Amino acid sequence: MRAALSLARSAQGSTFPNPPVGCIIAHSHEIIAFAATAPSGRPHAETKALAIAGNKAKGATLYSTLEPCTHKNIHNTPPCCQAIVSAKIARTCYPIQDPDPRTNGACKKILEKNNIIVTENVCPQEASQQLEPYLKRCHRTLPHITLKLAISLDGKISETSQPYRQRQTHISGAKARIYRNNLLRQSDAILIGAQTMRLDNPKLLLDEILISPEETQERHPFASIRIILDGGLTIPLESNLVQTVDHAPLWILTRAAEAASDKGTALKNSGVRLIPVPALSRQGGGVRLSLIEAMHTLAAEGIASILCEGGAKLAHELLSENLADRMILFSAPHTLGAQGLSMLASNNPKRFDFQLEETLTLDQDEIKTFRPQHNNV
Ligand SMILES: NC(=O)c1ccc[n+]([C@@H]2O[C@H](COP(=O)([O-])OP(=O)(O)OC[C@H]3O[C@@H](n4cnc5c(N)ncnc54)[C@H](OP(=O)(O)O)[C@@H]3O)[C@@H](O)[C@H]2O)c1
Repeated sequence: MRAALSLARSAQGSTFPNPPVGCIIAHSHEIIAFAATAPSGRPHAETKALAIAGNKAKGATLYSTLEPCTHKNIHNTPPCCQAIVSAKIARTCYPIQDPDPRTNGACKKILEKNNIIVTENVCPQEASQQLEPYLKRCHRTLPHITLKLAISLDGKISETSQPYRQRQTHISGAKARIYRNNLLRQSDAILIGAQTMRLDNPKLLLDEILISPEETQERHPFASIRIILDGGLTIPLESNLVQTVDHAPLWILTRAAEAASDKGTALKNSGVRLIPVPALSRQGGGVRLSLIEAMHTLAAEGIASILCEGGAKLAHELLSENLADRMILFSAPHTLGAQGLSMLASNNPKRFDFQLEETLTLDQDEIKTFRPQHNNV
């Protein structure tokens, strides 16, 4: 099961809208097939492994990191549970039931009816930890959010005079940037606030200095979905985000009225997806959207894991609405001084408590992972 879990880990972030699952088929102490969920979520790991095993699957044991599904997909291919029965597997092991209401324990009943031995609760803690985003999406219709910020020693994320991304190479070293790439690879989506979009004009893709050209090709169209919180639909058509819409999907959370405007139509014609979110109240010149509604909508779209890359206002808002599940701070050995922007910004700043989970030192950078004290999952 631990080997199957490591297969599932390799598929994290590429299987939207399905969870990353690993599967191993073994017979007489020999592994005869292994697979992880395919990019875009289909085929499932079990179906792939059974196809590889062919006739050898008869009488074998199948290990899956999640209860196999009992529902057909849109292409009308049989559910994994049915494929296990047809392959005459002798025993099926998995750690936890699939909370998807279409399965949720139904597989066990079908398998046992067909005289297949079912062993549940194999490595349930490891699997639950790995499937934390999927479980949160199923149980709470909310995505699992990782808040990632690169900070200076004095807790600043940017010099107000200079956009952060123009200095990114100075804030984090090469190893820290590889680590950031891996966080992005493991996430269904990446989110930023409108001000970071306006000031930094980012692409929100993998850091290309550190990946091979083949991987850039390979990622498309399975790259993490780029999401901007932009109530006033201020994103320029000529921004890097819109101009790279062929590299990775771009979704904008905005007001219904903005989505229906001429600018909204122009963006849609450029391949951008606009997602209307209910507005709460006017916020200065801008529009304040309901963040909780926005996150419910994204979860309903199948997004289970989000990496939020700032800025300070969005970070504060996510923490104060209890929407952030972990916070990862990349801290570099310098200060930004009085001109620096604090890592959390609000007109009504709050105190937050965290528990330190892990500290990693990568050359000059220290990467600390914290859990907010309340547990969202
Ligand atoms: N070091 C790092 O890790 C890092 C990472 C990212 C960014 N940064 C830096 O952070 C700075 C920007 O941060 P920031 O705090 O000024 O801005 P921000 O958090 O990036 O964006 C805030 C803006 O997002 C929109 N927004 C946020 N919540 C919203 C809601 N509920 N409804 C509708 N819109 C909402 C609003 O846009 P409107 O103004 O249009 O209403 C708001 O002003 C930049 O200097 C950037 O370089 C640093």
